[in-house]
Amino acid sequence: MTKLIGIVGSARKGNGLTLTKAALEGAAEAGAETELIRLADLQIKPCLDCGYCKAPENKYCVQKDGMQEIVEKIEAADGIIFSAPVYFGRAPALFLAFIDRMYAMVRADFSSKIPKDKKFGTIVTIGSMGEDVAAGVHGSNAHVFGGMFGWKDCGFMWKNMMHVKDAAEKNPEYIAEAKAFGKKFV
Ligand SMILES: Cc1cc2nc3c(=O)[nH]c(=O)nc-3n(C[C@H](O)[C@H](O)[C@H](O)COP(=O)(O)O)c2cc1C
Repeated sequence: MTKLIGIVGSARKGNGLTLTKAALEGAAEAGAETELIRLADLQIKPCLDCGYCKAPENKYCVQKDGMQEIVEKIEAADGIIFSAPVYFGRAPALFLAFIDRMYAMVRADFSSKIPKDKKFGTIVTIGSMGEDVAAGVHGSNAHVFGGMFGWKDCGFMWKNMMHVKDAAEKNPEYIAEAKAFGKKFV
């Protein structure tokens, strides 16, 4: 059975959460086992660039915070949907701290410590900016998870006018689109 996790990078319980839940629901309808993670519920400290994770005997980060749990869930998953709002034209600090901490999962030669047979995609929520900005957020994820980790890129979905907290919830077309997006991972 496909295991799919959704990792929500917005601190508010808003549209990214709604759309990620819908994507996981769509995947579950197609037979996946799903789990939702809100980064804001966990403590994620900044990467220290201390080099501990680059010693061959150290698989995980030296910092034992919420990141350990996320990494273990990622290791066990077949697919990961990332959700990030756009703050000042890029993903928010919370999400970027998570991305930086994934550095622990590549070796000194930049090979991956995580198996490559995973899929990833991004749900981008934006206030007023357009698709180019959403593509940039997904592109930076693709650089990390497609490029360094070698996972299969399932693309992104994006919506703007999402500054209204319940905008997605009130739009059945957006929910349907998110459900269809989730099914791509099964
Ligand atoms: C600190 C901050 C910066 C933001 N910067 C932008 C921006 O540069 N461009 C934009 O279109 N929207 C911007 N927004 C609006 C958010 O993108 C919008 O509220 C977001 O889509 C909400 O997503 P969520 O409901 O998933 O949390 C910003 C919001 C915050 C709080």
